[in-house]
Formats: sequence, C-alpha cells, structure tokens
Amino acid sequence: MRIGVIGAGYVGLVTAAVFADLGNDVVGYDKDEARIAILQRSELPFYEPGLEEMVRRNQAEGRLRFTTDVAEMVDFARVIFIAVGTPPDATGDTDLRQVEEAARAIARHMKDYKVIVNKSTVPVGTGDLVRQIIETHQTERVPFDVVSNPEFLREGSAIQDMLNPDRIVIGAPSQQVAMTVMELYAPLGRPILVTDIATAEIIKYASNAFLAMKISFINTIADLCEMTGADVEMVARGIGMDHRIGPHFLGAGLGYGGSCFPKDVLALIHTARRYGVDASIFEATDRINRSRVERFVRKMETVLEGLADKTIGVLGLSFKPDTDDLREARSLELIRRLLDAGARVQVYDPVAMPRVRPILGDAVEYSRNAYEAAQDAHALAIVTEWREFRQIDLERVRTLMRQPYIFDGRNIYHPERMARLGFYYYAVGRRFIPPNQGSGVRGSG
Ligand SMILES: NC(=O)c1ccc[n+]([C@@H]2O[C@H](COP(=O)([O-])OP(=O)(O)OC[C@H]3O[C@@H](n4cnc5c(N)ncnc54)[C@H](O)[C@@H]3O)[C@@H](O)[C@H]2O)c1
Repeated sequence: MRIGVIGAGYVGLVTAAVFADLGNDVVGYDKDEARIAILQRSELPFYEPGLEEMVRRNQAEGRLRFTTDVAEMVDFARVIFIAVGTPPDATGDTDLRQVEEAARAIARHMKDYKVIVNKSTVPVGTGDLVRQIIETHQTERVPFDVVSNPEFLREGSAIQDMLNPDRIVIGAPSQQVAMTVMELYAPLGRPILVTDIATAEIIKYASNAFLAMKISFINTIADLCEMTGADVEMVARGIGMDHRIGPHFLGAGLGYGGSCFPKDVLALIHTARRYGVDASIFEATDRINRSRVERFVRKMETVLEGLADKTIGVLGLSFKPDTDDLREARSLELIRRLLDAGARVQVYDPVAMPRVRPILGDAVEYSRNAYEAAQDAHALAIVTEWREFRQIDLERVRTLMRQPYIFDGRNIYHPERMARLGFYYYAVGRRFIPPNQGSGVRGSG
C-alpha cells in the first residue's frame, strides 16, 4: 500500500517507520523543514529507543522517504494518516488548527480517491469537521473517506507498542472503508475493534482519562497512607491483584505529565461540559494531579526546615523514563518551585539534558551524572524513575552529599534499605524509617 503520513513527531514518525517495515511504501511529510532535513540525513529529531535504526533501514531499502512537499505526498499516497499535534489552547480546550491545516492541504492536492485516517487525539466530532473542511477546500471533486484510528503508543516503548498493541481501534463510515485500514494492520495479528468514528474518538479520551484517574486515585490513597502509617505500595499491590482493577497505573508519586494525559483530561472536561455532561470525575483527576508537586515541595521544605540557600539535586527531568520529552514534565514545575523558594538546583537526566538547557538556561547547574548532581547537596529529589537511578551506588551518593536526604517522587527504593544505608528517605505514601545510627550527616549545611 502507498501510505502518506502528515506530521513527523512521535506518533507520525513511528507510524511511518512501522508501516514501511511491514512492507508498505511510505512518504512522511512535515511542514517543519529542519525536522525533515534531519530525517533525510537518517537522524532523529528526538530520542526514541530503536526508532533511528528502523527509520534508517527502511530508508536504505527504499520503502520510506521524507518530504516537505505536501503535493508530492498527497499525490503518492492512497491512505493518508494525519498525526499532527492537538495541543490545548489557553482554556484547556483542544486547539485543532494543525489538524485543520492538514485537512486543507490534503484537499487542495487531491486528484483521486483517498482514505484519510486521523491518528491525532481529537474531540468527538472532529472526523465530521475534517470531512467538511476537505469538501470545502477540494480543488477537484474526487471521492474520499475519513477514518478515525486513535493511537495508544507510549513514548519510550513506541515501536513495541505500535507493533504489539492491546487493540487497534478503527472508526469508519462503512465496513468497506474499515477493511482498507484493517488490511494495513492485519500483519500484526492483534485484536481490531471496528466501530463508528464518534465512538473511536471517544475511546481514545476515555482510555487516557481512565488511566489518569487511576494515578490520581492512588495518589489520594497515598496521602491517606501517609496520615495513617499504611504503605501505599502494598495497598497498590493488594488492590492490583484484583483482576477487575489490575496492577498498572497504580504508582503513587508526583503524578502524571507528558504531552497526552494532562491535555486529554482537560479536553474531555471541555467536551463533557459542551454537551452538558457532569465532568466532575475528570475535574477531580486533574485537580489532584496538579497538587502533587506543590505537596512534594512543601514536604521538602518542612523536613529541610526551609529551602533558601539549600542545594537540591534533581534526578530525572523527562516526563517519564526512556524519552527526552519534557512536555508537562513534573521536573520543570518542581525546579521552578525550588528556585522560587531560594534553593540552588543541580539537575541530571540520562537523555533530556540537551533539551532542558534552552528551557532552564542559567537558572540551574547541569550535572554530567547522578553523582555530580548529589555532590554537596542538602537533598536529592527523584523525579523520573530511570533504570540507572534504581541501580545507582547509594553508598557513594551518601558520601558525596552534604546531608543524606532523599525525597523520592517515584518510590523507586525500599524504605528499610535506605534507612540501613543511612538515608533520611521520604517516599510518597510510605512510612518514614529513621536512618541507622552512625550514618554521617556531613556538616551542618
Ligand atoms: N506522543 C505520544 O505519546 C502520543 C500517543 C498517542 C497519541 N498521541 C497524539 O498524537 C498526536 C501527535 O502527537 P505527537 O506527540 O506525535 O506530536 P508532535 O508534536 O511530536 O508532532 C507533531 C508534528 O506535526 C507537525 N505538523 C503540525 N502541523 C502540521 C501540518 N499542518 N502539516 C505538516 N506537519 C505538521 C509538526 O511540525 C510536528 O513535527 C497528538 O494528537 C497526540 O495527542 C500522542
């Protein structure tokens, strides 16, 4: 099949690479010339495990190319995926301008039948909007169909997620149109749910809002655990063993970030309100999530008896491990609050350092590794649960620090072990265990 993909971001690029890898001929188009130039050199504009190799291989074998010429892409493709951004506007509602622009561009260059598949996360009704835009802007009256095919991949495991999804959702106007898209996915051998466009559009938001709700739920339980001496990790295990609940998305901590959950929950709030539906369950999810960083910093402030002139090492900047994406990253809010409180901040992330410099500038110190971030620190804050932080030499960390305080926003260590190692270890929703005697507090700080 000849496939075009509009948008060479996380979703568009992975879609293009995977469909090429499955043997299709794919043209990726993006209006960002710099991004396309990088891709034409077989490099990647962002970090995603395994993607560079897959892009390079398919380029070399002639199944994948990139262009800034939209006419060329539209002319070439029979199926066109729209995978552009759908960020929130100032009110939190979905800004659909990138989708609208993509639809207009397709319309202007269509000379024969196309299946236009929307992969961007869009509010219910956007399929109809795309159809209307194309009808209005077509220069030649040729038939076309619009399909909704929401994407569920996660950054950091995007290729595996796309090759091995729990389900593929196809919202199509007819069985025949659905078949065209189903054929593309058939080689994956994964469950396919065929439905109408509106249902497919809502499935995406309902999935993300449900997962976000689980996180806000366990964070509220974590607060209760902290007040009562219970252990949220055990509670999460205990409830997660119930197959009706499941063990996933029950990690207590600083809450969710990234380019999807925060904006998708807000978008769902707007959609519900627009239709007069009670949005309070989504509103609570969002409100609880927003309070997490402030609560965490308050705890640091109380334990450390103020943050002014304290040196705080921040481990992990990306919104989650295995990506350099900083969109809605908890780290940025945490660092802003620490700086506002007068702290000196030294940061480290295994891959996001180049991306964070343009955002934070001279406001923080940049460390080359976790040990450097710990050097002379009054406390360390763990913000992203990168694997390398789990395996770090904690004895060495303790000797480097001015005082052995760790605030763990992702609950990656065991409180008993940390106490044995001599740390004042504050996890989220877990009991505080005083460190063993004889653990050195170096200097008064
Ligand atoms: N990132 C994820 O993990 C993820 C997962 C599932 C769904 N989604 C959804 O997929 C969509 C895309 O997300 P993303 O993270 O890949 O976005 P992104 O910001 O990484 O990439 C979007 C790309 O589209 C390009 N673009 C924008 N308008 C264009 C136009 N008119 N013509 C050509 N190119 C254009 C931009 O230059 C950019 O390269 C969003 O709706 C998002 O909610 C994202």
